[in-house]
Amino acid sequence: MNFKGKTAFITGAAKGIGKAIALGFAKNGADLILTDILADELSETVKEAEAFGVKVKEIKLDVTDEKAVRDAAEESVKEFGKVDILVNNAGIYPKRAFDESTSEDWKKTIDVNILGTLYPTHALLPQMIENGYGRIVNIGSVAGVYGVSYFVDYSMTKGAIISFTKALAKYVADKGITVNCVSPGSIDVHGGKKPMPEHSFMGRAGTPEELANAVLFVASDEASYISGQNYLVDGCRKQM
Ligand SMILES: NC(=O)c1ccc[n+]([C@@H]2O[C@H](COP(=O)([O-])OP(=O)(O)OC[C@H]3O[C@@H](n4cnc5c(N)ncnc54)[C@H](O)[C@@H]3O)[C@@H](O)[C@H]2O)c1
Repeated sequence: MNFKGKTAFITGAAKGIGKAIALGFAKNGADLILTDILADELSETVKEAEAFGVKVKEIKLDVTDEKAVRDAAEESVKEFGKVDILVNNAGIYPKRAFDESTSEDWKKTIDVNILGTLYPTHALLPQMIENGYGRIVNIGSVAGVYGVSYFVDYSMTKGAIISFTKALAKYVADKGITVNCVSPGSIDVHGGKKPMPEHSFMGRAGTPEELANAVLFVASDEASYISGQNYLVDGCRKQM
């Protein structure tokens, strides 16, 4: 896959899966706008991405701040001329008992995972429509498909992301824009500390790079006839 001449905007790019996605795009020639709330970790990702010789813009951005997201989108389009690819990766996954959680807890999950996906999409979609080209990749979760007991409100938000993907894909299908979702199973973003091998028939967690590979594919020109899909990258997950 070759992303030379393409620009990708990625949320939650400072660490974990978002960082692997950012470096995957950089390795394959995409210019990047990397965003996150964690400034120091983001700067480190930016440095590593720049080492591949691509142009990288760094924006400290909270995806729940609608105005800041719109400003970041506008600034990016002005500076790069266009944004071809959007990856809505920023997310939180608080583990808790549903009956002990509060409406404030749920609102936070909804804000980051749902509104934090809608804001960048809404801000960058008009220029994709104008350009007749776009790739939107949302990060879902197996929790959004199967439901996971100690992640009730989280599971709900990821279910919403999957249906958002399907609906938006139809809305923009004739405009050169594809919208897909990649749903991780257990991906080891903690350097082997929480591998959770029991979740998958492969007997191991996935790596952030294995997840990023699926994102890169659906964001590529090669995936031009694929839209509205939800890809589970879960090592043949056992239903938990
Ligand atoms: N790791 C897994 O096993 C797994 C499984 C299923 C789904 N996911 C999904 O993958 C995505 C990435 O998860 P991860 O495991 O890399 O987590 P992570 O915590 O390592 O990384 C998430 C990144 O998002 C950023 N972020 C959080 N809130 C933000 C906000 N309000 N604004 C901007 N950035 C914000 C964080 O600072 C962090 O850099 C999430 O959407 C998550 O739900 C992960």
